[in-house]
Amino acid sequence: MGVCLHEDLERVLISEEELAQRVSELGAEISRDYAGKELVIVGVLKGSFVFMADLMRRITVPCTADFLAVSSYAMGAQTTGDVKVIKDLDMPVENRHVLIIEDILDSGVTLSYIMNLMAGKKIASVRLCALLDKPERRRMPVTPNYRGFSIPDEFVVGYGLDYAERFRYLPYVAVISKKAIR
Ligand code: IMP
Ligand code: MG
Repeated sequence: MGVCLHEDLERVLISEEELAQRVSELGAEISRDYAGKELVIVGVLKGSFVFMADLMRRITVPCTADFLAVSSYAMGAQTTGDVKVIKDLDMPVENRHVLIIEDILDSGVTLSYIMNLMAGKKIASVRLCALLDKPERRRMPVTPNYRGFSIPDEFVVGYGLDYAERFRYLPYVAVISKKAIR
């Protein structure tokens, strides 16, 4: 323990140590699977940037980084169902191995849109790596190839994840208290 929680947070769900341990394991697994290949790591902004920075440093095959930004969540805790690309990839991905990095897979609306977008390009392969997964909430059939943790249906923040842009800087993942969500 020893973590002094903000009043809007209920409890720590995944500690800094657990995150580091799991990110190392994911990096090792990805490095084994892509041995002898080169990877393009594509982070979905903004939530994935902390996870991606840590994960990349645990990957031992050559990789480049790019980012995609899509809008789906306005400011609150509910998905609008409406997805659009607001920042496209900078580099072409044709004939490359692409690994999409997401902070959390919730309804699957965002990721199924992104996976469809990738399927429309002539890429060598595309896989998905999500730090967190809330399988109970799924509305679209999306399964991550690499998953950090499966979590219950609660709204979480920290380690890149926000609530109305707050709490991304926390080094752990915490459950936000019900009274803080409007
Ligand atoms: P989906 O399209 O419903 O799968 O939503 C994915 C996006 O919703 C994620 O990239 C997050 O930005 C956001 N999201 C879903 N659940 C949470 C949560 O518990 N905390 C913070 N953001 C979340
Ligand atoms: Mg996000």
